Amino acid sequence: MAEPSGNNKAADRGRGIVIPDDWPGYRLDLFTYPAHYSEDLDSVYIPHGVIMDRTERLARNIMDDLGDHDIVVLCVLKGGYQFCADLVERIKVLSCNSSKSLLMRVDFIRLKSYLNDQSTQDLQIIGAESLSVLSGKAIVDTGLTMKTLLTHVRSFRPNMIRVAGLLVKRVPNSSGCLPDYVGFEIPNRFVVGYALDYNEYFRDLNHICVISESGKQKYKV
Ligand code: HPA
Ligand code: MG
Repeated sequence: MAEPSGNNKAADRGRGIVIPDDWPGYRLDLFTYPAHYSEDLDSVYIPHGVIMDRTERLARNIMDDLGDHDIVVLCVLKGGYQFCADLVERIKVLSCNSSKSLLMRVDFIRLKSYLNDQSTQDLQIIGAESLSVLSGKAIVDTGLTMKTLLTHVRSFRPNMIRVAGLLVKRVPNSSGCLPDYVGFEIPNRFVVGYALDYNEYFRDLNHICVISESGKQKYKV
């Protein structure tokens, strides 16, 4: 984990691809997406191909940093499943094509989201009996969830812990707890797709998109 005073190689890679506050995204008609969401989105914020290309580079950075360590990948459900699956796939391909053969186990934890809104001291972690060195999470905003999760993971005394996050949001109340590997730094906007949901919808969308006002109303609970 990159604490504010962190001093590891991965942390030095910084914020990933920084998307500015005024980035409007791409027009929807320039891409394909499920027809059932045609009224529910404003723009394609990060196209699927760009996510995949960035993930490939994160996999390379991770491989470079790992040395000869075997790893346990801890996927943070539900929002992190697609990022984690694609990252693991990329690491596998790199590992097959390199002289370093990496033994990788994959484990899953689920964070109960209704507790996410409350004090993170109460955050309920389901699963994760094993040690982990690499945790894959799709989105980090305040970083408080990540902080709590790391305290839990540390209790298993792994040799090394690294966190990969596809998106980090620029939020005013950031805890300063940031992933070691960041895909994109994005403005403080609500995004969906690539397994990120709005009330469980939009996980079946490949691109990361901005939800429209009518989409918010339609899937409101
Ligand atoms: N989208 C989906 N889930 C989230 C987000 C977001 O922007 N931020 C925190 N959880
Ligand atoms: Mg969610």
